[in-house]
Amino acid sequence: MVVKEIERGLTFDDVLLVPRRFPLHSRKEVSIETFFTKKIRLNIPIVSSAMDTVTESEMAITMARHGGIGVIHRFMSIERQAQEVQRVKRAENIIIEKPYTLPFKSTVGKAKELMENYGVGGLLVVEEDGKLKGLVTKRDILFEENYEKPIIDVMTPRERLVVSTRKITLEEAKEIFKKYKVEKLPLVDEEDKVVGLVTAKDIMIKSMYPNAARDQKGRLLVAAAIGIREGYLERAKVLLDASADALVIDVAHGHTDEVIRAVRKLKETFGDIQVVAGNVATPEGFEDLASAGADAVKVGIGPGTVCTTRIVTGVGVPQLTAILSCAEKSIEWGVPIIADGGIRNSGDLVKAIAAGASTVMIGSLLAGTDESPGATISRGGKKYKVYRGMASFYAMLARDFKEDKQIDLDSIVDYAYTSEGVEAYVPYRGRASELLNQLVAALRAGMSYCGARNIRELWNNAKFISLSEAGIKESYPHDVEVIE
Ligand code: XMP
Repeated sequence: MVVKEIERGLTFDDVLLVPRRFPLHSRKEVSIETFFTKKIRLNIPIVSSAMDTVTESEMAITMARHGGIGVIHRFMSIERQAQEVQRVKRAENIIIEKPYTLPFKSTVGKAKELMENYGVGGLLVVEEDGKLKGLVTKRDILFEENYEKPIIDVMTPRERLVVSTRKITLEEAKEIFKKYKVEKLPLVDEEDKVVGLVTAKDIMIKSMYPNAARDQKGRLLVAAAIGIREGYLERAKVLLDASADALVIDVAHGHTDEVIRAVRKLKETFGDIQVVAGNVATPEGFEDLASAGADAVKVGIGPGTVCTTRIVTGVGVPQLTAILSCAEKSIEWGVPIIADGGIRNSGDLVKAIAAGASTVMIGSLLAGTDESPGATISRGGKKYKVYRGMASFYAMLARDFKEDKQIDLDSIVDYAYTSEGVEAYVPYRGRASELLNQLVAALRAGMSYCGARNIRELWNNAKFISLSEAGIKESYPHDVEVIE
C-alpha cells in the first residue's frame, strides 16, 4: 500500500488575522470594490446563494441596491426564472424600454392579475397596434369589486395623460413630475405608439441607493443559475434574453468533464457572456474551469451551514484552506474566486476575502431576512424562517413536484439515501439591508486592522495566525455571563 501524506486543512475558526499598520485616516476611506466575474464589478463583495429559500427577485434587488449581486435560483420553470430576472432589471431603470401593457379591451380582473404577476403598480393600456389608449394604476382599481368591468371605464384616458415624445434625461423627467404632479410618464413615438415609460418611484429609489451595482444602462445587476442537464442551453438563452448579467453553473461537484464541457459550450454558443462555474475546492479544479473559459469560479465543497456532503460522502476541504489553495491560480488566470458557504459572521467574511476570495456567497445569514422567499414563523416565542440545502430530501422532492415528474417509491428512497443537505430553521434577522450594512462596516474595520486600503492590499497584507484550542476559546466572550 502507498503511504499517503495527509495535509492539514484549516477553516475560519482555526485562524485569526494579525493586525498591521493602517495608513488611512478613517475606516470609511477603505474601498471594498471588487469583481464578481472577470468583467462584472461590484461595490461590495457579497453575493446571495442560488437557493429557493434565499434568492428570488426581492433578494436580488436588495443585493444589487447595496452594491452586491443575487443569483436567482433555478428550481422553477424557465419562464418563471426569466420573469424573476426581468423584475430585477426593471426594478429601477430610468427608462423602461418595454413597459408592461394591457389591451384596451381587457377587464379590471385582468389588470389586477397582471399587476400581481409582474409586481408592478401600473400598466399602459394600448390598442392592437401599440398606440397609447390610457393608463391604469393600482389606485384606480383598488376598491373596484366588479372584475368584469372594462378597463377603459376606470383608466386615465390618453387625452388626460402627460407624455413625452422623445427619450428624456433624468433631470428633465424630474422637472415633468414636479410640474404636472404625475408619477408615470409614458414615452410615445410620432404615431403615438408606446416606446417606453419613466416612473417617479424609480427615480426616487435610484437616488436612495448611490452605491448600487448597475449595468451600463443603469439597471440593477442580476445573475441566474443554470444546471448542466438536458435543456440547460435553452434555459441559458431565455435568461440571457431576459438580460441576466451572468450565468452561474450551479452544481455540487464542479470539477467534472461535464461542467468543463458546459462552460465551453456556453461560451461557444453565446459568445461574450459572463459564466460562473463551480464548485471546486482545489487549485486543479479551479484551473480546469478557468482554462475552459469560466469568468469566476465558486470555491467550497461542503462548508455550508445546511450541507451534509462531508458527512454523507466523506469528501470536502476546510473552507479557508480551499480558498487559500486556489488564490494563486485566481491571480494567475485573472479569474475571481467566489467563496461559497460557511460564512457565519462578519469575521468569516473578512477571513475569506483575506485568503484570496473576491466575493463571498452567503445562504443562511440572508435566509433569515425579510427578502428571502417564504414566510416568517413563530416557535416558542421566537421568530424564524425556513432554510434548506438544495440537495436536502424535501428540496429534491419539491423539485419533482414542480416539474410534474412521476414520483415513484424508488426515487423517494434514492433521495433519502443521496441527500447532501438538511432542512432547518434560521433566526429571523429583519431587513437584509441591515445585515449587509453590518457586514460591510465590519469588513471595512477588519481591513483597517490589516492595514489594507482595498481588497488587493488585503490579499497582499493578510497574515494569518493559527490558533490553539485555548486561543479559540479566548476569541469568544469568556468568563462572563453574556446578557442575551
Ligand atoms: P451557507 O453556509 O451560507 O452556505 O448557508 C450556502 C451554500 O451552501 C451550498 N449548498 C449546499 N451544499 N448540500 C451541500 O452540500 C446542499 O444541500 C446545499 N444547498 C446549498 C451552496 O453552495 C450555497 O451557496
